[in-house]
Amino acid sequence: MITENEYKKRRDKLAKKLYNSSVGVIFSATCKTRSNDTEYPYRQNSDFYYLTGFREDNASLVFIKEKESVKTVIFLQKKDEQLELWNGKRLGVKEAKKRFFVDEIYTTDYFKKSIKEYLANKKYLYYDLDSKDKRLKKVLKLSKEIKTFDNIVLHVQKMRLVKSTSEINLINRAVAITTEAHNRAMRSKKIGKNEFELQAEIEYEFKKNGAYSDAYTSIVACGNSANTLHYIDNNQPLVDGELILIDAGCEYEYYASDITRTIPVSGVFTKAQKELYSLILNTQLEIIEMIKPNVKRSDLQAKAEILLTKGMVKLGILKGDYKELIKNKKHKKYYPHGIGHWMGLDVHDTAPYLDDKKKEIPLKKGMVLTIEPGLYIDKDDKNVPKEYRGIGIRIEDDILVTQNGYKNLSIGIAKTIEEIESISSSNYMNTSIL
Ligand code: GLY
Ligand code: MN
Ligand code: MN
Repeated sequence: MITENEYKKRRDKLAKKLYNSSVGVIFSATCKTRSNDTEYPYRQNSDFYYLTGFREDNASLVFIKEKESVKTVIFLQKKDEQLELWNGKRLGVKEAKKRFFVDEIYTTDYFKKSIKEYLANKKYLYYDLDSKDKRLKKVLKLSKEIKTFDNIVLHVQKMRLVKSTSEINLINRAVAITTEAHNRAMRSKKIGKNEFELQAEIEYEFKKNGAYSDAYTSIVACGNSANTLHYIDNNQPLVDGELILIDAGCEYEYYASDITRTIPVSGVFTKAQKELYSLILNTQLEIIEMIKPNVKRSDLQAKAEILLTKGMVKLGILKGDYKELIKNKKHKKYYPHGIGHWMGLDVHDTAPYLDDKKKEIPLKKGMVLTIEPGLYIDKDDKNVPKEYRGIGIRIEDDILVTQNGYKNLSIGIAKTIEEIESISSSNYMNTSIL
């Protein structure tokens, strides 16, 4: 749980970064129509949530800074008995005043009038420069006198890079639920079933354990479908003898998990599958072992490219000197993505990879990132020995950077060939770690 005090500390930290004589505005997410009069489930904007923990729409947070003193104001939707009957309770100003440690709270009706006052004689305006939010138009119309604009979300996103203890606890919980989900998928019978049935097993664990949703659309890809990186159709039969790539992670209390396992439909790997799987697994283990403060993500990327390319040469997938192959980007055909990414309120957390001087930010205690090497070999790729065609494998874990090294948060999911084969052959469903 994140306390109101922690949210206040975050706002104070952000406020310190703002220039004097400035206004900063950050909006809640807007509801999105799915079709006609149905909407997608509402999901708060991550930066707004990071600063407030508030889950309602039609809200905003405003900073007004003058002479080193900062006023923070929340605008939120007013109570409305009729709308609340249909859409659920709103917090309202009275309760919000008890909850949020901000200076002032008003209903959104007052936003336009208030922002006009705040902007008078100010020099700087901070807002999300990339946002297409209609509410911004009002603000920009009223800020004709202001000449200097800055991107408020870049400041927030820098703060999101290193996670607090309470954030790590929530990520841990998300990963624990996803651990159950992947282990469940491995234990469940697969032959004669469809990808969507396996997806249902996974998402059953998410929902059953109180995860609000998935952190991204689950990928359950059997055989050659795994070579489509963002395959989400999940509607093909599970074919005996093939592998299934499952990339699925729940979101728990707004925090993501992002985990991939690749497992055999039959419960047992073939010789060729084992060879490829071992290469990716050994690469992943070696990269994870490198993780500690001050190491750079680009070092991890470079090492992964070397290990995978050398391995592909050994298996006859690529031919030539591995250094030359990497120089000519030949490995990219089979390993086209990055070694991993920041993870937090967003699965691909929007925290920056470069500092203000455009230099790469090294790992620091409290950062969370994925490590996810993979190889993808199309079924029609005649350049590759026949036995490897149509195989796509990725192995992905969620890693916390610690003082002297790392902690693999998803260590509880079967991963070695022996573990996967053993769990797949057991029907024992009662090993929950939750
Ligand atoms: N699930 C998306 C990714 O692995 O980055
Ligand atoms: Mn990922
Ligand atoms: Mn993933």
